[in-house]
Amino acid sequence: MNRIVINTDIEVGTISRHIYGHFSEHLGRCIYEGYWVGSDSAIPNTRGIRNDVVEALRRIRIPNLRWPGGCFADEYHWRDGIGPRASRPCMVHTHWGQVTENNHFGTHEFMDLCEQLGCEPYICGNVGSGSVQEMSQWVEYITFPGRSPMADLRRANGREQPWELTYWGVGNENWGCGGAMRPEHYADIYRRYAVYCRSYGQNKLFKVACGAPGPNYEWTDVLMREAGKRMNALALHYYCGSGAKSRSATEFDDEDWFEQLKRAVRMDELITRHATIMDVYDPDQKVAMFVDEWGTWHQVETGTNPGFLYQQNTLRDALAAAVTLDIFNKHCDRVTMANIAQTVNVLQAMILTDGEKMLLTPSYHVFDLYQVHHDAARLDMHARFEDYPFGEAAIPAISASASRDADRKVHLTLSNSNPNKGVEVSVDLRGGEFTAVTGRVLTGEAINAHNTFDAPETIQPAAFDGATLRRNMLTIAMPAKSVVGLEIV
Ligand code: AHR
Repeated sequence: MNRIVINTDIEVGTISRHIYGHFSEHLGRCIYEGYWVGSDSAIPNTRGIRNDVVEALRRIRIPNLRWPGGCFADEYHWRDGIGPRASRPCMVHTHWGQVTENNHFGTHEFMDLCEQLGCEPYICGNVGSGSVQEMSQWVEYITFPGRSPMADLRRANGREQPWELTYWGVGNENWGCGGAMRPEHYADIYRRYAVYCRSYGQNKLFKVACGAPGPNYEWTDVLMREAGKRMNALALHYYCGSGAKSRSATEFDDEDWFEQLKRAVRMDELITRHATIMDVYDPDQKVAMFVDEWGTWHQVETGTNPGFLYQQNTLRDALAAAVTLDIFNKHCDRVTMANIAQTVNVLQAMILTDGEKMLLTPSYHVFDLYQVHHDAARLDMHARFEDYPFGEAAIPAISASASRDADRKVHLTLSNSNPNKGVEVSVDLRGGEFTAVTGRVLTGEAINAHNTFDAPETIQPAAFDGATLRRNMLTIAMPAKSVVGLEIV
């Protein structure tokens, strides 16, 4: 019943490593405490950035980091975040918690963080409350190599060489927190701002326009019609929310589990429909689709600031991540970047911190299992999967991706969303000779299995012995509620 055929000699695109990208906003304890502890902290750090978090993200080869927001981006004035920290002005973070932002983490600190992570920076500029000049000067400050007012200011602040910066967002959620604009208005505004975001010297900016919220297809239609020729990417946002009855990250039942996964699966429909509209205006697929905010969104943990979006992360979140990453892989012709929200201590985080303690979430482990797909060739795969039914509704029980890496190893990742039923999957590997399979599995006893600071390794990948290979036929015994990563040679 669950059968996959893979033509291992037929490549159907490249899975950009940027699909495995991240998003970190000045929100709650993501930047402050999550990354930034200051150089006089007792927590081991490099120039104020905590080493344990950097090391963990390097292990999953974080390819890019989007910053400073989110809604914060459209109220952020970058000149407040440069120069000696003690004299940087503070501001009220009006959107998330109305807390005071001291601007100790600014452009230099962010670029240093990206250098420490070994990832590409993706900066989102302020359209909602910032001027064209302000945005234009930020690009000049970061990337202009010669003498200029902004480049000289950068030098005065200790950075002689310009930074390399490719990804540049022209506003965030400008249909909402970024200015409550109509698509026609934002399309014109985008055109104006984008003109003044220059590519200086060898640096080539890749300009990203604000895309639709979930199923707002009109937004995509108007943006592509009015500004499609002036953008490199259009960035969709979709959060798959929480359960059916309970919004708790950790206390939920089978119905909540199913609802969460059903909402995650919806990403496929959203990408398909937005991409179809893009195809009308851009048949040669010159404009990429980014999904630069996605993930689960639960109630905050009891006793924490509701504006800080601090949530736990269970096996359910891991399954939602796996299903979504498979959808991005499938659409890798159009989707060339995605950024899960929000890396550390906010929403569907990879990492949670508590003072000097740090833990890796189940979602982190999915990014670990899936890193084999970074820049790999997507293989031609055809599949038939049984349903995972609940009441009147059903979603596919299995989701999968197959790719071949630069060393010609074939990788197959699979997830079984059904929390109550293990399933067998047979895979017909064509177009090559395969003799060995090894794998890892992520699963747990309970649907809400998660890691805590007292038990940080409750859920983590383990060696998988449920796959057997005989004459190019692979049989996989997928446990209930599991994610499996296989290497086939
Ligand atoms: O990620 C949290 C928020 O979700 C961001 O600030 C905003 O862009 C989106 O609505």
